Parts: sequence; C-alpha cells; structure tokens
Amino acid sequence: MRDRMQRLRRGAVTGVGIAATAVVLVSCGGDRNASSNDNGQNTLRPAGPAAHKILSLFTPFFWVAVVVGVAVVGMTFYVALRFRVRPGEERSPVQTHGNTVLEVSWTIIPFLILMVMAVPTIATIFNLAKTPKGKDVVHIEVAARQWFWQYTYTDPSTGFLTANEMHIPINRPVLLTLTSNNVIHSFWVPELSGKKDVVPGHPNTLTIEGDRTGTFLGQCAEYCGLSHANMRLRVIVQTEADYDKWVQEQQTPLSAANVQEFDKKISGEWGCTSCHSVTNRVKGPDAVGASVGPNLTRVGDRAAFAGDIYPMQLDPLTKWIYDAPHQKPAGPLVNWMPNFSSRGMSQQQAADIAKFLICDTATDPASHPECK
Ligand code: CUA
Repeated sequence: MRDRMQRLRRGAVTGVGIAATAVVLVSCGGDRNASSNDNGQNTLRPAGPAAHKILSLFTPFFWVAVVVGVAVVGMTFYVALRFRVRPGEERSPVQTHGNTVLEVSWTIIPFLILMVMAVPTIATIFNLAKTPKGKDVVHIEVAARQWFWQYTYTDPSTGFLTANEMHIPINRPVLLTLTSNNVIHSFWVPELSGKKDVVPGHPNTLTIEGDRTGTFLGQCAEYCGLSHANMRLRVIVQTEADYDKWVQEQQTPLSAANVQEFDKKISGEWGCTSCHSVTNRVKGPDAVGASVGPNLTRVGDRAAFAGDIYPMQLDPLTKWIYDAPHQKPAGPLVNWMPNFSSRGMSQQQAADIAKFLICDTATDPASHPECK
C-alpha cells in the first residue's frame, strides 16, 4: 500500500515537471508584435508562393516529428522509471539478445515514414526549381560582393544597376540569377523564398514573388568573411504603379551639375569613382559595368546603406565616409572602403559628402528631414 502511494507521488512530480517544461517552451514562441527580436525574417509568415509552398511542406513534417519525438522521449522516460532499481531490491533483469519482431518493425516503420515524406519533398524541390517564363517575368542579376548585394535589372524596360535594396512588383515572378566573383554567399529572404547559394563560377537561379506589398528583410546565409553578418538586404514588394514609378526614378539620371560635382569635388579629391559610380545604366553610351562598391546613383532613395545595416541618415553616413573600417570590419584580405580620416579628411568634409549623397541623389530630397 505504502509502495503504491510512493509511486503515485513520484508520478505526480514527474507530470508536473513535464507540464512546467511545456509551458516554458510554449511561452518562448510569443506574439510577434510583443516579441522584441522580430527581425522581419519569419519563415512562418510567408508572403509569396515559394515561401507558402515551403511552409506547407514544413508544417506536416513538423507534426510528424513532434509525434515521433514525444513517443521516443516519452517511452524512454517510462522505461527508465518503470524498470528502475528500487531500494532493497536485488535482482538482475532477464538477459536477452535480439528480438526479431521489434528490430524488423523499428526498421520498417521509419523507412515507410521517410518514403512517404520523400514524395512531397521531391515534388516541392522540382516545383521550386521551375524557371518562370512569359512577359510577366522580371529579370534581375544578383551579384554578391564582400559585403553587399548588387542588382542589375536586365529587362529592356529596366536596364539599370542598384544595390542592397531590391524593388519588385506584386504578384509577378522575379527570376534572380545569382553570381559571385569572390567567395560563396547565400541569398535569403525568408518571407519570400528559401535560401540559394551564390557560388563563384556557377550562376544559380532563384524565383521569388511577393503576394502582398511591404518590406521583406533578408541576409546572407553563408559565412563569407568578417562582415558576413553585415551583409543584409531588403526586398520591397510594390503595387505595379509604385514599382513603375520607382523604375522611372532609377532610370532618371542625376543632373549634369550633380554628376560634375561628384566627379570633381568629391571623387577628384578622394578617388570615390575608382569604386563607385553615379550613373547606373547598363546599356547605351553611358553604360557602366559592375563596380567594386555599391552604385550610388539613387543612393539617397534607399532606406539603408553599407549592406543595409545603417539607416540612410546624415550622421551614420558621415561616420561611414569618415572611417568606414571602424563601422564595418573587413580584415586585410578584402578590397575595402579606406579610412579617409587617416588620409586627411575632416569630419566636416565627410558631412558635406554625406549630405551630397543623400540630398542630391534622392528623387525627393524633401523626404529626408536633413535636406530641408
Ligand atoms: Cu555573404 Cu555571408
């Protein structure tokens, strides 16, 4: 009788322990609005067909894994408790070797589960790998650099170069061609699609598409050097009208006076044009090739700079121009923005260049409070 009570009590303690663990685990999930670490990269909140397909593959697999996990861990606990040695007990378990029925069944059952799961997995892989065709498709070449993303819009209706911030029209497939001339990177915007490696000498393709408007953040997902974590990006999904407007803005060259100011006053003194350009057309007489640093033609229109890590504001941009290596580590191996403060640039000169870059390249300078 006493023995039975003891067992009941121990069972109750174990039950409470398991329930408490479950409560802690569930509360880790949290509400996305209340959560402080919402970085806008949530695969459980898909915003495009590719991301939806991946989620609908993930969800049933997750529950299969939960059932298997709970069964295995539960049985382990049960056996450990049920067959443990009790005080005063002196017995050895019955010694056996092998149990054909058990061994065959725990081989066949997982095999069958994996075979069933392979069917939708392979189907989804092939489905996601399809190349979209038709007039609707937007083509963008993505070049991964250490450490920023360069985008070349290659369609006849676009034909320009930009960096870090990609704009795409809603409900239209966007075929990305991913290239690298340095190391391996990985392009990843979780709410729009899975990740795809960017491999030197082997262009990969990835189709993304947004089914709601908004800003979707992404980042490089393959370790690519010291500032791998500072290689972020954003994709802005826009209505067709907003997207057309943005394309037009990108295609509008800077005024001749602004280009001249950049070439003479800014680049002449500091050599900026050896890495950057303020023209962005990829065809025609004023075409530019790929550059070492991000294209700056409409840099004032972007929300952030330096691999999408600093907001496009005077202060951070001034600090960046003054002394970039201390704003984003690069190490000795990478061709990198120099520390201009050690080349005699004053803070005021850096601030002047920052102001030019934000206010004279922005389509609508009034949208920056600092440009008024
Ligand atoms: Cu590029 Cu990590």
